[in-house]
Amino acid sequence: MSSTTYECDFLVIGSGIAGLTFALKVAQEGTVHIITKKAKAESNTNYAQGGIAAVWDPEDSFEQHIQDTLAAGAGLCHPDAVELIVRNGPERVNELMKWGVKFSTTPNGRLDLGREGGHRRNRIIHATDLTGREVERALLNSVKENKNIRIFENHMAVELITEHHLQNKQTRPKQQPIHCWGAYVLDVEADQVKTFLSRTVLLATGGCGHVYLHTTNPSIATGDGVAMAYRAGAWVGNLEFMQFHPTTLFYPGANSFLISEAVRGFGGILRNSEGEAFMANYHPMKDLASRDIVARAIDAELKRSGADCVYLDVTHLDPNEVKSHFPHIYEKCLELGLDITAQPIPVVPAAHYMCGGVVTNLRARTSICGLYAAGEVAFTGVHGANRLASNSLLEALVFGNIAAKDAKNYRRNVDVPRNQIPSWSTEGTFNAEEWVLVAHDRGEIQTLMWDYVGIVRSNLRLQRAERRVRLVAEEIEDFYKRTKITEGLLELRNLSCVAQLMIAASRFRRESRGLHYNTDYPEPDDRYWKHDTFIHRDLGIQIALPAKIVWDDE
Ligand code: FAD
Ligand code: SIN
Repeated sequence: MSSTTYECDFLVIGSGIAGLTFALKVAQEGTVHIITKKAKAESNTNYAQGGIAAVWDPEDSFEQHIQDTLAAGAGLCHPDAVELIVRNGPERVNELMKWGVKFSTTPNGRLDLGREGGHRRNRIIHATDLTGREVERALLNSVKENKNIRIFENHMAVELITEHHLQNKQTRPKQQPIHCWGAYVLDVEADQVKTFLSRTVLLATGGCGHVYLHTTNPSIATGDGVAMAYRAGAWVGNLEFMQFHPTTLFYPGANSFLISEAVRGFGGILRNSEGEAFMANYHPMKDLASRDIVARAIDAELKRSGADCVYLDVTHLDPNEVKSHFPHIYEKCLELGLDITAQPIPVVPAAHYMCGGVVTNLRARTSICGLYAAGEVAFTGVHGANRLASNSLLEALVFGNIAAKDAKNYRRNVDVPRNQIPSWSTEGTFNAEEWVLVAHDRGEIQTLMWDYVGIVRSNLRLQRAERRVRLVAEEIEDFYKRTKITEGLLELRNLSCVAQLMIAASRFRRESRGLHYNTDYPEPDDRYWKHDTFIHRDLGIQIALPAKIVWDDE
């Protein structure tokens, strides 16, 4: 392998909304390299449907958006982080429009505001049901016009570069701060690991839906950022809180396809196989209760009836309105022979969004100096035990922007120890002829996670998952150490790491709260009120008030 090295002021890992927002902001100050593991648009962002939650209607207020977010978060949201995203929402939406995003408007030219679960007002700014695609298009266009930004497609980050990699490294006390100076990156087409050096690094690698068998996420979502940061020695947090979206199309053989919550916001009604509108039995907000409640209700209906799916019914709504508000969903279903204006849509829940992630503070700094995290990979404290719909794009925008402000200052005082950073070594590794031995491990992890660490958990299920995933992970790690790396092997290694962290966090939280439901502890426990679950490679796992996990970030 060659020792190609690149150097810039700001390295961005990931080209979704968080990474691109950050890049556009810091490019005013220095050179930016964005590495992204597939084609540049391929990201969770690109598939977002419903929209961006922001206070826009004069009848709405920051206080109401804050209250709705806190209510969904079941006692674990960090109020200062929530306030930050809510109050910055309108400014960030305006900036998106300045960058060329075209949102849907009403006939009188105002932004059209949709509604989703858990919101007590219409505040979802959207571009029909293809919001993410429109945002990604506009951001990539702006990036293309910026001379300071260079994108490297099909480049996959392997590991973050820290003291651990330095030649002549000295033994350091465990508590001393670690620094990040870049990443080793697999150029997938050239089959070569390159060294990317930088004064600051933004992790914007998105989520980890593919830890599970059924997910709304595209294939990029394999938890790489959480796994890399954890291995590098960053704190990660609240990984027990995986959000399952209640409504993905149930169509055996077809790729997973989301039916936006905005459809329920528009009047869609969930019915069981007997045709009963069952949500009234579960929550006063019925179909617009928060996602954890709706997903669990569907799970209960499926277990009770033995049916394969429930149905989302929009046949009582004006067909033309349905088609004009949800053109993408309408067309996609029609391709599969389903006219949603005439037939109810078969739906099931699927893994959708990771509420936890790499722990950051209000400046988007992780516990590793020079390493920032924003977007789905980050645990900012905004979402608590359950994310409110459409708060994710908003969080990525706001924290991408905050990270940029901070990184511009931080990078001025950084010296990258470039002469001490070695090239990636392939010594002692062989080509992956034995790949077949571990290739099936991906499916095994996904099935174990779906069956044992899903919407409803128990101590026994979690114990089983822990034992089995640990065995599989050991096999993968052993294979990784001896083998020339490939994209598939790296993803598998990251999936097994994140699955283990999720199981550990789930076992540690001995209560049910928000998205984490354990039948052995079916109620929230007041002792865990406001307590997050933190995991560190060297310091282990703890459940603590966030104030306990602080680091010197000057
Ligand atoms: P992403 O957009 O996922 O981008 C991650 C980037 O990192 C990608 O470019 C990926 O290729 C790259 N990457 C990953 N690993 C590596 C690596 N090792 N090396 C290099 N590059 C890497 N949220 C809302 O608020 N509103 C919605 O309406 C909404 N709808 C959604 C619909 C769907 C179907 C899905 C899946 C999600 C939806 N979400 C929605 C959630 C939201 O889209 C995501 O949380 C958000 O887009 C995440 O943005 P991001 O920039 O953090 O990550
Ligand atoms: C959706 O459109 O239902 C997804 C919204 C979200 O994940 O916030």
